[in-house]
Amino acid sequence: QRHLLGIEGLNRLEILHLLDLAEEAVAVSRQVQKHKAALAGRTLINLFFENSTRTQSSFELAGKRLGADVMNMSVATSSVKKGETLIDTAMTLNAMHPDIIVVRHAQAGAAHLLARKVDCAVVNAGDGAHEHPTQALLDALTIRRNKGRIENLNVAICGDVLHSRVARSNIILLSALGARVRVVGPSTLMPTGIANLGVEVFTSMREGLKDADIVMMLRLQRERMSGAFIPSTREYFHFFGLDEEKLAYAKPDALVMHPGPMNRGVEIDSSVADGDHSLIREQVEMGVAVRMAVLEALARNLPNG
Ligand code: CP
Repeated sequence: QRHLLGIEGLNRLEILHLLDLAEEAVAVSRQVQKHKAALAGRTLINLFFENSTRTQSSFELAGKRLGADVMNMSVATSSVKKGETLIDTAMTLNAMHPDIIVVRHAQAGAAHLLARKVDCAVVNAGDGAHEHPTQALLDALTIRRNKGRIENLNVAICGDVLHSRVARSNIILLSALGARVRVVGPSTLMPTGIANLGVEVFTSMREGLKDADIVMMLRLQRERMSGAFIPSTREYFHFFGLDEEKLAYAKPDALVMHPGPMNRGVEIDSSVADGDHSLIREQVEMGVAVRMAVLEALARNLPNG
């Protein structure tokens, strides 16, 4: 592949290849092995139109550990604030001959649009509520390292599914690798037609978490909601917040995930987020390894790669 725009479009073998490559990258990402030089002499631009802590910093670390020159474009102080469009911004950066642009944007389809306009490889770091492919890859890697497999696991993805690009990418990826995926949340936060993606839909945590191996919580994305549709924190936590009582509906060895950033006391209680079942910190660590794998795979298809 020349770009990574989504999990949609990757086949099972391509996904497994990236996970295996990421497994090899773990030692490098922990800096216990010598850096690889797959991106030596290459330039990577991080172009984030939405805020990020984990994704942007891990792409920066991943690029640097592969020997790339990494430039973090500061959108907040750029000419975007003077009205320059996504495409004009991208074309301006393209004229400086980067090898890879990593882009996050509030509009679904932004990464695809960019990929049609620029000469370099494009990686989707999140486009609206559409896809966040590297998050799904790092989630799959974390699950595989802890459960030894993905096939036949019951994965419950819970909360604000409507606004979640993480949910969508995970549903596609985990289903492709043979997991049984369900979504759990209030009906007001379920996208219409979500069952067409092959998931079971639940509106009760008690039913949705029954026999779950993995409980993946999602952030309540208030910034994408308006007016009467914003649930009250207390009510939301009561029905859908993951605490020890609700986690007990899942299998005794169920593992808890959250892509971050977390709203503690809204979708997840601190006792669970920081508890023995939590994989949340490991997810962040795997983020660097997965992004190294993606960049390394793309580097092979760069001109003179
Ligand atoms: N999970 C995730 O995308 O986190 P950031 O918004 O901090 O990058």
